[in-house]
Amino acid sequence: MRYGYFNDEHREYRITTPFTPIKWCNYVGTLAFGGIVDQTGGALICKGDPALNRISKYISQMPASDFKGTTLYIRWQKPDGTYEIYSPFFTPTLKDLDRYECQVGLSYSRFVSEYQGIRTEITVFVPRDGEVFLQDIVVENLGAARSIDVIPVVEFTHFDALKQLTNADWVPQTMTLKAHRQGDLCVLEQYAFMKRDTAVNYFTANRPVTSFDGDRKAFLGRHEYGSWQKPLSLEAPELNNSEPLRGDNIGALMLHLGELKTGDRQRVIVQLGQAASLNEAAPSIEKYRDEAAVDRAFAELGEFWQSYLSLLQVATPSDSFNTMVNIHNPRQCHTTKNWSRYLSLYQLGYGARGIGFRDSSQDLLGVMSHMPEEALELALKLLSMQKRNGSAMHQFNPLTMEGSQGDSLEEPDRPKYYGDDHLWIVYTMAAYIKETGDLSVLDRKVPFYDKDPQGRPLEEGSVWEHLVRAIEFTWSDRGRHGLPLLGFADWNDTVNLPKGAESLMVANQFGKAILELIPICDAYDKADFKAKIMGYYESMRSIVNDTAWDGAWYVRWFDHEGRKIGTAANQAGKIWVNGQSWPVISGFASEEKRDTALDSVYSLLNTKYGIKLSAPGYNGFDPVIGGVTTYPPGAKENGGIFLHANPWMMIAETMRGNGDRAFEYYNQINPAQKNDILDIFESEPYCYPQNILGNEHPQFGMGRNAWLSGTASWTYIAATQHILGIRPELDGLTIDPCLPKAWDRVTVERRFRGSVFSITILNPDQKMKGVTSLLVDGKKIEGNRIPLLPAGHYRVEAYIGR
Ligand code: NOJ
Repeated sequence: MRYGYFNDEHREYRITTPFTPIKWCNYVGTLAFGGIVDQTGGALICKGDPALNRISKYISQMPASDFKGTTLYIRWQKPDGTYEIYSPFFTPTLKDLDRYECQVGLSYSRFVSEYQGIRTEITVFVPRDGEVFLQDIVVENLGAARSIDVIPVVEFTHFDALKQLTNADWVPQTMTLKAHRQGDLCVLEQYAFMKRDTAVNYFTANRPVTSFDGDRKAFLGRHEYGSWQKPLSLEAPELNNSEPLRGDNIGALMLHLGELKTGDRQRVIVQLGQAASLNEAAPSIEKYRDEAAVDRAFAELGEFWQSYLSLLQVATPSDSFNTMVNIHNPRQCHTTKNWSRYLSLYQLGYGARGIGFRDSSQDLLGVMSHMPEEALELALKLLSMQKRNGSAMHQFNPLTMEGSQGDSLEEPDRPKYYGDDHLWIVYTMAAYIKETGDLSVLDRKVPFYDKDPQGRPLEEGSVWEHLVRAIEFTWSDRGRHGLPLLGFADWNDTVNLPKGAESLMVANQFGKAILELIPICDAYDKADFKAKIMGYYESMRSIVNDTAWDGAWYVRWFDHEGRKIGTAANQAGKIWVNGQSWPVISGFASEEKRDTALDSVYSLLNTKYGIKLSAPGYNGFDPVIGGVTTYPPGAKENGGIFLHANPWMMIAETMRGNGDRAFEYYNQINPAQKNDILDIFESEPYCYPQNILGNEHPQFGMGRNAWLSGTASWTYIAATQHILGIRPELDGLTIDPCLPKAWDRVTVERRFRGSVFSITILNPDQKMKGVTSLLVDGKKIEGNRIPLLPAGHYRVEAYIGR
């Protein structure tokens, strides 16, 4: 069944029924202020920290019918004196709407509903420069005249989201809500007692408020045997004006719009915000009471996205490729950059995850071309999480900049670092330099993470020094075969072997990091270091090929006793996809091994819904191997389709020139392609989930953990830099497409270093790769790289074949 459709003109996905297989969400605002909004109007809003400064109470584990965070009731009096009450979001009244559409836009959601002749259009968003969640509500009467009441509601949470769940006495004893009135203005002020002088939440509307409630018990009525579906207080003309000094805090505002005749429309703006005090919030509250200011803020949001997405726009013969590459994929990259793994329907925040070193380093690849300066800011923060020995803290809280080693601390006898974290940032910094040409960044000083007892950094070093130490750490931290030690885990968090295990993936990552640094060494005048790392590269290449070739693929790890994991002789986990894609990406695999390994993936790991991470799955918990064995076969890292690993296969296939296969892999996981099989896929069709259940699992094809996944950035890189082949380099823009044979013509508009390139790729002979002629403004260029040119608009033609 279909649950909606793409509207590319408005850059939206439009959900046409509230009965999506699971909650689908959208993001509004940023980590500074914002959160997620689901397709039935529920909103999880926080400021700066989703775990420790949460504003609305959203418990995603509760059933879909449950109230979550925010909603809106609408009512009118019937001839018998009782009220007809419904929610235009469907939840929580669950009354069938005559029309429902949730337009999932770029940082806004718009809900268009109709119920018994009342039409509403509710747009929710956070202004670009504001710290307030706005609900812009338009109510129109299409039916007989009636007096309409609008009752927006928020349920507040304790700022510490975990405490809210774990302490049912302390939490309500510490939370309070007061109403402030001044003329027409009524602001509900909510705070936790201990935060009263530093942070208050507020809830208000640009309409006179005749009554309100701050206490959930009062609002729901009859000791909470009234429910969110049927709040008893809405059956009376006015609310209770409850101002709890103790209790479960909500905000509910009674807004009488008065009589709406047929065709009448009225507009209401509701604000949910947080500030140091109500005084501090006053200018913002005043500003957004004005509809024109709300219109301006919404227009600014649109302008931002217009400019952001104009970095690269493409027209290929595949509509779903175009939709993703032009709109939803870069948008998801922007979201992952912003939220790392901090907040989604699936994750709570710091302690649970926070900003991940590995994750954010990769997320930055997906936004580097669009916003290199902002990306650099986060990259420098990540570098400050790197230790003097070159390894890195696994995650950190961006407010305190306190790092942690994540799960590894729970396992006292396991290594306390990850084998891979520090290498990802090398790609990030290389991407920044290639996009901007700014080598001076390498001179910037950044402290290392290690601190003295007073909390002062023990040492700082240039960015270059940080990158050097990342390489040197891996080179010095090797095991019995000369391969890099695994640490607690590598990219695959869930294979946690005892001390002494070695990782083939880290070995290949090391190779790729060296490849990235070589042109930088040339430009930055580091001949000695270049010679040294070229030596490392050759040695590591030999070690990988001498120790890890298994006959038809590469093994993935050596355990602490030197046994192979990912060999034909294993019962489970015989072959792992990253073990095959990465030796190609690193350039370590010979052509012959490359082709054999990639074909093994195709025959042993590929499915119609994506490439599995490994096969077969482990069937039973094995504490030595670790987390991967906590899932049944086919789930997550245990033989599931772990999407993040799929684009690496796309890249590897383009490196060997197989555009058909790369595009097949692209299509298999493209969520836009799943719009017709959503009863199987279940996840949002407009963003990549983290995982899809594999074919060993009875729910094969089902996606989960949408939005915050490295799949976003790497698929964007695979699509734009490898399938389309438009790659920024230090000294120009490479045009190196690897297309499916059937694509005879592709156009790409790309901004790069102050110029705009309108590129046409022509493929008259139905080849897949190999630019034979490149013309810039009609003039032929040698090779396939457009050199650096004065700022301007250039017309580029690239021919594959003839
Ligand atoms: C999700 C984590 O966020 C990511 O860092 C990791 O690489 C994958 N899981 C694979 O285990």
